[in-house]
Amino acid sequence: MAKIISGKELSARLKAEMAAQVAAFPEKYGRVPHLAVILVGDDPASVSYVTGKAKASVEVGIRNTTIRRPETITETELLELIAGLNADPEVDGILVQLPLPKHIDTDRVIAAIDRSKDVDGFHPLNVAALWQKQPCTLPCTPKGILRMLWAAGVELEGRQAVVVGRSNIVGLPVSKLLLDANATVTMAHSRTSDLGAVTRQADILVVAVGRSKFIKGDMVREGAVVIDVGVNRDPETGRLCGDVDFAVVEPKASVITPVPGGVGPMTICCLMENTIECFLNRHEADAALKK
Ligand code: GUN
Repeated sequence: MAKIISGKELSARLKAEMAAQVAAFPEKYGRVPHLAVILVGDDPASVSYVTGKAKASVEVGIRNTTIRRPETITETELLELIAGLNADPEVDGILVQLPLPKHIDTDRVIAAIDRSKDVDGFHPLNVAALWQKQPCTLPCTPKGILRMLWAAGVELEGRQAVVVGRSNIVGLPVSKLLLDANATVTMAHSRTSDLGAVTRQADILVVAVGRSKFIKGDMVREGAVVIDVGVNRDPETGRLCGDVDFAVVEPKASVITPVPGGVGPMTICCLMENTIECFLNRHEADAALKK
């Protein structure tokens, strides 16, 4: 029987701590942190993620403004919206929910966000800082995964970590964080030959491929720590499921994350942390200017 890391419980604890911290901000700083979330279109998964972010903001005491725009918004209009939020001194964090419609250049939109308000950690300067081990805003999902591994007492130093998936949002940055924690990291992906032979080497297996129940029992080493980043609809039951076939992998794993209630809540929790971090950094920068 694997130990199941509940992202739901861990995030609830961390959010309660943040709520206590934020409660002192009005007296200390005159206001609470403010997160602006832009949602383009009405993709149901994106609507659900944005709703989750608004709900978590309320729990933590962060002000949340969700700005909805139709699928037909032009890139110029979106860039103007971001410019307005960049210039607003009372906005501390800006998040543009991805994916964006095809006619919009996602890289240009991300680069347009003021780096100091980039709560996703996706801005090119934040990405560069991560890869150079400089102070930066860490992307939420990779940060949440590391928090879960720490909370479960998983030793990373010297161990074999295999990351399946190489996205900018998860695969690449989580590989870097595992490397920084002194794991030996292998990055596998859709073109990896004999993927099972690679994943079976893993002491720690992180899967972010977006394919229902993709990792089967015979792809996992006995006693492995398994982190499932996938959020998919099971084609058979219509219920949420991960990239890992939980029923057959859980008996082999020593530690595993569930879907739902695993990595997802931790991503949102780390977004709250990042919003507070951006708020505090901006206040410090302001204070330094006034000295
Ligand atoms: N879409 C899926 N995951 C994310 C995320 O972490 N941030 C943003 N902005 N969009 C996403």
